[in-house]
Amino acid sequence: MQMSEIYAGTEFFDKEKSGLYEKYWIYYCQRSYLSKVGDTFSRNVCGNPVSVRQTEKGLIAFQNICAHRKATIFLEEHSNRPFVCKYHGWVYDSDATLNKIPNSQIYGFTNEKVDACGKLRRYSVIALGELIFINLSENPIPIEEQFHQQFIDELTESSNHFDDCVISTAWDAHYNWKLNFENVMDWNHVRFVHPSSFAPLQVKNPNDIDSSEAWKKDSSEKSENVDFGEINIRDLSYSSQSDVSLPERWFRKHINRFKDQNKYYNWFIFPNVNYCSIGGDHFLIQQFDPISPSLSNYRLEIMTAKRKEAVNFYPLLKALIEGEKRVINEDIVYLESQQANLSKTSTTPYFQGVNEMPLRRFIAWITKNVYQK
Ligand code: FES
Ligand SMILES: [Fe+2]
Repeated sequence: MQMSEIYAGTEFFDKEKSGLYEKYWIYYCQRSYLSKVGDTFSRNVCGNPVSVRQTEKGLIAFQNICAHRKATIFLEEHSNRPFVCKYHGWVYDSDATLNKIPNSQIYGFTNEKVDACGKLRRYSVIALGELIFINLSENPIPIEEQFHQQFIDELTESSNHFDDCVISTAWDAHYNWKLNFENVMDWNHVRFVHPSSFAPLQVKNPNDIDSSEAWKKDSSEKSENVDFGEINIRDLSYSSQSDVSLPERWFRKHINRFKDQNKYYNWFIFPNVNYCSIGGDHFLIQQFDPISPSLSNYRLEIMTAKRKEAVNFYPLLKALIEGEKRVINEDIVYLESQQANLSKTSTTPYFQGVNEMPLRRFIAWITKNVYQK
């Protein structure tokens, strides 16, 4: 297999769409967007238009395409309005089934036709704490088969600390989504790419080897010809924590902090989310949603831990997201260069070491289970 096929090929991209994004549990949005009956959050998931709506009976997820002439029902990302397609006014009920057609006499439909065609496609939806996941498959696997129970517990416990005041942004990124997931797993780039923006937070790891000669020596951990054997999908999502040097943060007195330590908590949620908390003070969710082999939608959400009282955190959230975007912009330069270089070195495999095992394991699992190679 060539690098350009994995990161830029249409055939492999189509396999990822059907064999990964339409099969497994994918992070969708935060529950705070859906707290009131009628709240609806709509977005694409690997090109599939999806909505999740809070109804009197609970959360439902459905294909956001009208049964009539296939218009998008909810064009807005977040709304609270009747379940109506605005094109010709068709009305749906809380089961995503056609309920009323204005001017129905002009269509000449039989009841059988309405019964057969009036149901929107439904999807499975689940909340782990404040994190909502959807599954586009007709027969979803239990979520416990995709994530370790301990990982589920960590996601649930940590996200239950989210404040409901969230700032978010999204933009199109001109590279394959996998490059971004690999980038967030790759801790070794931080001090080189983010020397003044992010690296100063890191407390130096005493195990860091800083000899310019070390790489030449024979290593007991060989990086070549690794046989990953059977990889358990649950091992592709994992958490890590490291010490961070944080100044006393002025907003701490206004929040119920998640844990009480100066740690950088990281959760890598397979296949395309990096979720983290800086010091338990604020949280960050970054998702890399595929649009095409060389285009992704980067979605970024930031919130603090729950406020104790109604302080206006908008200026704080704005400063946090602007700071984060500056860090991400430093990565984008390299990710775009990788994408551009794929076609020039298509047959040369990556030159990767032992420290890059998580990235290699991720690709090895996809190669076997999604590309079926
Ligand atoms: S396309 Fe939705 S009502 Fe006509
Ligand atoms: Fe980075």
